[in-house]
Amino acid sequence: MRLLVTGGAGFIGSEFVRMTLATHADSSVVVLDKLTYAGNLANLAPVLHEPRLRFVHGDICDAALVADLARETDAIVNFAAETHVDRSLQAPGRFIQTDVYGTFVLMEAARHAGHERYLQVSTDEVYGEVLMGFSAEADALRPRSPYSASKAGAEMLVSAYRASYGFPALVTRGSNTFGPYQYPEKIIPLFITNAIDDRPLPLYGSGEAVRDYVYVGDHARAVDTVLRRGTPGEDYNVGCGNEVNGIRVAGEVLRALGKPESLIAFVQDRPGHDYRYALDSSKLDALGWSPQMEFAAGIATTVRWYCEHEDWWRPLKSGEFWEFYRRNYKPLPALAACRDF
Ligand code: NAD
Ligand code: DAU
Repeated sequence: MRLLVTGGAGFIGSEFVRMTLATHADSSVVVLDKLTYAGNLANLAPVLHEPRLRFVHGDICDAALVADLARETDAIVNFAAETHVDRSLQAPGRFIQTDVYGTFVLMEAARHAGHERYLQVSTDEVYGEVLMGFSAEADALRPRSPYSASKAGAEMLVSAYRASYGFPALVTRGSNTFGPYQYPEKIIPLFITNAIDDRPLPLYGSGEAVRDYVYVGDHARAVDTVLRRGTPGEDYNVGCGNEVNGIRVAGEVLRALGKPESLIAFVQDRPGHDYRYALDSSKLDALGWSPQMEFAAGIATTVRWYCEHEDWWRPLKSGEFWEFYRRNYKPLPALAACRDF
């Protein structure tokens, strides 16, 4: 398979690229990535020498470029997106542009190139807040943030392309993912890197909102399983049943680093904060996938990785990062009052 992997220099995309090259000797990969603040060529450093990998610096909204790359490949796996909910609350426009319009550009190119498979990497956030029970693939989409609405908008287009053109799209809806190479704005890498530096860990609201955490290697394997064994036209949830709240995330991180609980700072809640997501992933399990990393072991592995790779994350926690951080957290009195904010 010759794959066009968009967003392949990001967190999950780069794991998928490294895994594909390591496990499928007959596959080659073209990565198309805009290298936004979240994209990082260093994520591909372990495989950049590989002749089966080609990196193209560009935007998925560039229709001419995408059409050329689609003609050279057999299938697109679309990881490219703006991905952080807090940033979508501050500046929604680029989420609509990349996540919705970019998906349209990719599907048009795949359709005209005659691809037989297209995989859209989506999120459990499209279901919206689920206070009880577990979301199944046939459930209604009720997104509540600009980020989740842009991902759901992309899915609406996928659905329309399936119905209108018989477009062979597969969708994965993954839950919260963590592990090495994650930009330090999401809760786990933010808390690990803050705790290493004895900075406060800002917990939104009561810290009781629940997420189902999946390790990045398990998520990448799920996308690979759906790409190769899934049925075009179908959607697949990717979750582990690890229902963990923010207080436990903070506790595990602090324990792994031997840091005090006094670093936890309860701050004003995220606007529109979804209190819980939870997935029924039995449809994916039936394809032969099962998660291999348990939550506590995943946290220990991830903490170790960030301790051993300060050269990777310290340069990211500078300039633009602190501008965003101050905009997002500074107005929250509990944090502004903290020493070493
Ligand atoms: P990320 O933010 O780490 O990486 C996104 C990548 O997309 C970056 O390399 C960035 O440079 C690239 N990109 C952004 N805009 C682009 C554009 N216009 N053209 C080309 N490249 C562009 O994201 P991630 O956490 O690895 O998420 C990957 C995908 O998985 C996203 O679609 C996201 O919605 C989805 N997802 C993420 C999670 C999670 O917890 N991280 C969970 C479920 C689903
Ligand atoms: O569920 C899948 C989604 O998970 C992906 O689609 C998104 O791309 C990804 O960013 C993630 O979204 P969340 O909003 O759930 O992740 P985040 O790490 O931002 O927040 C996880 C939980 O932790 C959530 O309940 C909010 C809370 N939180 C987050 C941050 C950044 C805090 O309490 N404090 C924080 O500083």
